[in-house]
Parts: sequence; C-alpha cells; structure tokens
Amino acid sequence: MPAPSFKLCFSRDLIAAQVLRLGEEISRDYKEQEILLVGILKGSFLFFADLVRAISSPTVVDFMRVASYGTETQSSGIVEVRKDLELPIKGRDVIIVEDIIDSGYTLQSLYNMLMLREPRSLKVCTLIDKRGRREVEINADYVGITMDDGFIVGYGLDHDERYRNLPDIYRVEGV
Ligand code: IMP
Ligand code: MG
Repeated sequence: MPAPSFKLCFSRDLIAAQVLRLGEEISRDYKEQEILLVGILKGSFLFFADLVRAISSPTVVDFMRVASYGTETQSSGIVEVRKDLELPIKGRDVIIVEDIIDSGYTLQSLYNMLMLREPRSLKVCTLIDKRGRREVEINADYVGITMDDGFIVGYGLDHDERYRNLPDIYRVEGV
C-alpha cells in the first residue's frame, strides 16, 4: 500500500476564527445562564479547550469517552460508553462538544442516552460537520466548519490514534 498523503485542509487561523465565532454564538444564546459543556474524548480535546475560553457565559465542564465500533474510517452505529460523566445533568443546560459528525450514529446514540437523564436543554456543538456522509437524521445546533466528504486528521482528530497534535487539519488520502 502506498504511504498516505497529507494535504492542508483547514488552517489553524481558519479554525481559530470559527472557534471564536462559535463561542460568541453560544455566549449570546445562553447569556448569564450556566452551561454544562460535555467534551467527547478524545477527538474534541483541543477544540474543547479553545471553545471554553471563547465562551463568556458561566460554564462547568465534564467529559465522556465513547467508542463506536466499526472499521478505522467507518462507524457502525453501536456505541459503547468507555468513560461516563461525573456530574449529574438533570435539570441543567447541556451542550455536547464533538470533534466531527460523520454518519451521525455516534452522536445520535449519545444524544438519546443523555436525553434519558432529563437535562433542561441539550444542544450539540461540533467543530466539523461532514454533511455529505450523514446516514441518520441528526444535526448540530452549532457548527464550526462544514465539509462534504474525505478523511481528515489534526487538531484532535486521529487516524489510528496518530496526528492528534497537528495544529492544522489535513486531508489524508490513501488510508
Ligand atoms: P460517526 O458516528 O460516523 O458520526 O463518527 C463520528 C466519529 O468518527 C468521530 O467522533 C470521530 O472519532 C470519527 N471520525 C469520523 N470522521 C473522521 C475523520 O475524518 N477523521 C477522524 N475521525 C473521524
Ligand atoms: Mg477517532
């Protein structure tokens, strides 16, 4: 198999601008209401860190780790909780912070799971929305960057656990 090739897709400057915009939108919507931000590990760790600093509303943070079975680049719809939240979310205003929505299976399962815990409100913020690949009817309330198709790495996103530390996002071909 030939070595994978990397092409710059979204620069750190473009990402930073979109993260600031998302922070402003969220702060405008929630104002002085306290938000419980739920970061979905591992992919959202850098986005999450930048996003919380762009939000001026009061925030509380917590994390979850979910794994969706499938091949390296294709999700299956079966989601397992590897690390659950530490805080109760009942009666709270919650925003799920995701790195990327692809087929939508992961987010859909997560959304339904958290809804059962009766938050006052539950919204979704994603850095990347890969719209062309959606297989289930679920959309984010706050979207940083929209793309159609293709596999990307960097700024938290991995391929086989690698490349999460890259400050920019690259499109990978040949994986
Ligand atoms: P979904 O369940 O198909 O929506 O997949 C969502 C998860 O698949 C994300 O949280 C990522 O972990 C992973 N994923 C989907 N597309 C990409 C990509 O282009 N690069 C890296 N990870 C991806
Ligand atoms: Mg992943």
